[in-house]
Amino acid sequence: MRKYYFILLISAIVLIVVQVYAQQKPPVELLEIRDSKFEQFGPYRHPPVWFSHELHAEEYQVTCNSCHHLYKNGQNIWTPKREVQECSDCHGKTKQELTIAYHMKCWGCHKRIKEIYLPADVPTIECDRCHIEKTKVSKEEKRIQKKLRHKQKKVEEIIKHLKIKGFYR
Ligand code: HEC
Ligand code: HEC
Ligand code: HEC
Ligand code: HEC
Repeated sequence: MRKYYFILLISAIVLIVVQVYAQQKPPVELLEIRDSKFEQFGPYRHPPVWFSHELHAEEYQVTCNSCHHLYKNGQNIWTPKREVQECSDCHGKTKQELTIAYHMKCWGCHKRIKEIYLPADVPTIECDRCHIEKTKVSKEEKRIQKKLRHKQKKVEEIIKHLKIKGFYR
């Protein structure tokens, strides 16, 4: 009889654990930005950048067109049905120009958020939070996964009303 209860208890625990896991969001996967044109300009000076679409586009609802663009008559007509081109397809005759395009886009938004709300957790001068060593990527993924459960309401509000060049809602 005891043995029977024990098995029941174990299966109940297993069931609960499975359910808790099932409710969790799929694991965060960082995307490596490794623009092929940089390789042509010579060796990278910093590790390539890894960043999370989940954190930006899903959690904080940054629209796709805030980053992806294809201009026609001054209008950004990119939609998710279109292909994703490398930024260097259009930017960067020189390494400096290409670096500026990336930094202006990524850093530009982060800087603006910080101007409005200093405690926002967006990297600006902390180079190594965007330029991440490959060996540290999986640790970063786990950290960002945890972060997704503690969204900053204030930052979410700022994103909703953000007005900077090249930011579209
Ligand atoms: C908000 C994110 C972000 C931050 C912070 C950032 N960068 Fe970058 N940086 C990028 C992106 C994106 C690229 C294009 C990356 C690629 O192809 O891997 C880039 C490219 C570069 C490149 C050209 C590629 C290379 O490694 O030679 C240099 C140099 C660079 N960054 C230096 C810096 C320095 C120095 C800092 C800190 C003062 C910094 N970056 C902070 C996002 C960032
Ligand atoms: C914060 C900026 C940003 C936002 C917001 C963003 N993306 Fe991206 N996305 C990028 C960058 C940078 C790359 C890498 C481009 C490259 O490799 O040249 C990329 C790559 C991609 C790729 C190709 C790589 C892959 O993961 O398969 C797809 C598809 C894509 N984005 C779709 C989207 C869609 C759909 C949305 C909106 C739901 C979105 N992106 C929002 C910056 C962004
Ligand atoms: C339109 C605004 C916007 C743009 C453009 C943008 N970001 Fe962000 N970024 C955010 C917000 C919002 C967060 C989340 C802040 C938080 O977690 O509280 C964030 C967080 C991050 C983080 C920190 C993740 C962590 O917790 O360590 C990194 C790294 C990052 N962004 C990289 C990039 C890169 C690379 C680009 C350009 C391809 C980019 N961002 C473009 C708004 C932006
Ligand atoms: C199909 C060509 C094309 C691709 C691919 C492209 N851009 Fe652009 N980008 C443009 C054009 C054209 C403009 C000028 C728009 C204007 O100001 O009228 C522009 C403007 C910009 C600006 C100035 C501010 C703004 O958004 O208006 C930044 C920063 C930028 N691009 C960064 C990037 C980054 C980072 C990528 C890759 C994720 C990228 N671009 C991919 C063509 C492109």
